[in-house]
Amino acid sequence: MVGCADARFPAGLELATEPAAVSRFDTGRRLYLNRCSGCHALIPPEQISADRWPAEVARMAKRSVIDSAQQQAITDYLVAVSSR
Ligand code: HEC
Repeated sequence: MVGCADARFPAGLELATEPAAVSRFDTGRRLYLNRCSGCHALIPPEQISADRWPAEVARMAKRSVIDSAQQQAITDYLVAVSSR
């Protein structure tokens, strides 16, 4: 189980200050932790370069129970962490 303080998966407040952006990153984080952990261990965002994440999430979305808005939120979160 991934704890809230796991440094590999920073919360929205560590990525943004504007409230809407913080909330959006937290949504992407929650979806990533909940929807992408069923088949394999969560891949630390920094393990994949920011420019590769959109295609990886698109590929995995076909295997996951997520809609396109959720896919976008997960992608935005992973790209933001990976490009820090
Ligand atoms: C139904 C099972 C399943 C779910 C759900 C799933 N994955 Fe995967 N994932 C796999 C399998 C199997 C592989 C290895 C084969 C491959 O790369 O296609 C993989 C590979 C990956 C890789 C490549 C790892 C590497 O080192 O290149 C990434 C990145 C990834 N998954 C991200 C995600 C994300 C993000 C989600 C959520 C949107 C997700 N996965 C949900 C089955 C799943």
